[in-house]
Amino acid sequence: MAVMLHYFQTLNWNFVVIFSIALFIFSFFVLQYRVERFIYRRVKKIYDDVSLLESSSFRNKSITTDMATLTREVEKFARDKKIEIETLKIREEYRREFLGNVSHELKTPLFTVQGYILTLLDGAMNDKELRKKYLQRAEKGVERLIYIVQDLDMITKLEVGDLNLSFTRFNIVDVIQNVFDLLEMKADAKGIMLMFDMKYYKPIMVYGDQEKIQQVITNLVVNSIKYGKENGTTEVAIEDLVNNKIIVRIKDNGEGIEKKNISRLFERFFRVDKSGARTEGGSGLGLAIVKHIIEAHDEKIYVESEYGKGSEFSFTLEKTK
Ligand SMILES: Nc1ncnc2c1ncn2[C@@H]1O[C@H](COP(=O)(O)OP(=O)(O)OP(=O)(O)O)[C@@H](O)[C@H]1O
Ligand SMILES: [Mg+2]
Repeated sequence: MAVMLHYFQTLNWNFVVIFSIALFIFSFFVLQYRVERFIYRRVKKIYDDVSLLESSSFRNKSITTDMATLTREVEKFARDKKIEIETLKIREEYRREFLGNVSHELKTPLFTVQGYILTLLDGAMNDKELRKKYLQRAEKGVERLIYIVQDLDMITKLEVGDLNLSFTRFNIVDVIQNVFDLLEMKADAKGIMLMFDMKYYKPIMVYGDQEKIQQVITNLVVNSIKYGKENGTTEVAIEDLVNNKIIVRIKDNGEGIEKKNISRLFERFFRVDKSGARTEGGSGLGLAIVKHIIEAHDEKIYVESEYGKGSEFSFTLEKTK
């Protein structure tokens, strides 16, 4: 421009300077705008690709052309995805294990029932004595199946968290006495005495889901009978605890539990002796159910045990007037 003006003898430096500045500013903004548009399109494409995978969480955020923020967000996205995939993997393994355990548990009683029915069909039904005996044994197998299915149903509900507790006030002494009455026959068969540690003359009112708490006490007392020694005792104590809480202790003088197994007791399907060598059958769901129910009440469960001497399971409950 300056050369041209000089050629035409009209060189005016003021004009040249102003023109240059104006030109610079104009170009600057055009370039800036173009570059920004260019980066924006690239970045938007990345956003779009990423949000294709996760449309819900990315769409609502504004798009940025700031590279640092973008990098951070993409990294965060990758991290979140990794965690998500890992949880899914764990869940998948959990599910597979659960199914395996379930079919394993159902197999034994199913085959028992089938065995008796087949024997009956093979001719045993013509013998009046045998017929009755085998039918009764098949019935026992069916009973066991029902028991397992009920436990499975309960644990599934507890694990997905849709077990609606219906809280009421009730007398825990009555509930324990009720469990004793129901299990008296079972205990008698092993010569085990079910008792309170002392006479509870007054009712002790607590707040919780009565039916579920009864299930907890039943599971614990059944265990104390199953794993108790012949002619032993199961003793239940109700004690005051701080902060409007009581603690219910269920103590037996049975076989006890080895230290190494204590931490796994409340896992579902966990049994100390899986070999079946021991006489007491079970699927290992009892304590898992107990723990879920107590935790759904926001309470705690404890276990203390000495191998060969006996065990004590205890749980807390909220006391009311
Ligand atoms: N009072 C106890 N004394 C000794 N061992 C116990 C006692 N309670 C539980 N256990 C051990 O803990 C394991 C798990 O108990 P849990 O009640 O969950 O299952 P289970 O009694 O085997 O079967 P289920 O209760 O489902 O019929 C038992 O197999 C047993 O080895
Ligand atoms: Mg049990």
